[in-house]
Amino acid sequence: MRILVTGASGLLGLNLALEASQEHEVFGSVNEHVIQTTKFTVFQSDLTRPGAFKELMVRCRPEWVINCAALANLDACEANPALARKLNSELPEKMAKVVAKGGARLVHISTDAVFDGKRGDYTEKDPPNPQSVYAETKLIGEQAVLSSDPQAIVARVNLFGWSLSGKRSLAEWFLNNLSSGKTMMGFTDVFFCPLLATDLARVLLEMLAVEARGLFHVVSSECTSKYDFGTRLAKLFNYDQTLIEPTLVSNAGLSAVRSTNLTLNSEKLTSTISRVIPDISDGLEQFYAQYQRGYPHYIRQMKTSYLGSGE
Ligand SMILES: NC(=O)c1ccc[n+]([C@@H]2O[C@H](COP(=O)([O-])OP(=O)(O)OC[C@H]3O[C@@H](n4cnc5c(N)ncnc54)[C@H](OP(=O)(O)O)[C@@H]3O)[C@@H](O)[C@H]2O)c1
Repeated sequence: MRILVTGASGLLGLNLALEASQEHEVFGSVNEHVIQTTKFTVFQSDLTRPGAFKELMVRCRPEWVINCAALANLDACEANPALARKLNSELPEKMAKVVAKGGARLVHISTDAVFDGKRGDYTEKDPPNPQSVYAETKLIGEQAVLSSDPQAIVARVNLFGWSLSGKRSLAEWFLNNLSSGKTMMGFTDVFFCPLLATDLARVLLEMLAVEARGLFHVVSSECTSKYDFGTRLAKLFNYDQTLIEPTLVSNAGLSAVRSTNLTLNSEKLTSTISRVIPDISDGLEQFYAQYQRGYPHYIRQMKTSYLGSGE
């Protein structure tokens, strides 16, 4: 299959493009972080430029587009809501219209953060209640995709893994602090179900294979607190876990509101792809195994230039 991954320099997009390239012909679009790899064809394109996505479609002629491009940083969304709307709401709608018209299929990546986190174990039928600019713009994006292209897949995810910058994922943030002996907060009241990026990539590819459509919760089969996640990482990598201070998120002084119980129910996914989704222990073991075989270094050396104005 010919697959276009937008946001291929991002945490999910890069891991996904690499995973998909083992079996498929992959094209990856990047914006400010230009990468070089022999595994897939890289295009640089600012997708907020009018006509940019259509041009990309003409060049790649994909059967599937997996949209991982986003403004995915909560605080950046609060600081620049106009850009958040462009990338998280308007771009996905435009993509869905172009993809549907051209006869291709779209997978759009969304987030567990569309819920208010008051209850947890949310199914696809539960009403979202976004609490931040990020969550609100992502929710508008997923709704626009499904109404413009009913064949599309919208996947609400949460993930961790190795990134181009070495600091994009929560797991890397814990490890960077732990390895330099710094103390850090670990939220004891924020619950999530993170899936390793490469496992998430495999699940998404299986969803393409069974031609799934509609809204899905694509997360780990296990959920935990951010504090527990950090201490499990510390143990696995043999760092001092007491550097992680158990903290309530309300005491952390963060600018964007964090929903607390973002655990998602993924039963619809499990029955669609007919297999059990890896749990957090599986994911962490794989994450450690990737570290041992030099995967983080392999990923980081793909970065060739940075076209932005500051990191
Ligand atoms: N990371 C998480 O923990 C998490 C949790 C839940 C849901 N998600 C969702 O998962 C998806 C992927 O997130 P991520 O963490 O992989 O994001 P990320 O690492 O921040 O990557 C974002 C990607 O979007 C690209 N992009 C940004 N502006 C662009 C523009 N104007 N034109 C074209 N591309 C542009 C970036 O390209 P450059 O870097 O080259 O500029 C980058 O490749 C998002 O939909 C996010 O909402 C992520």
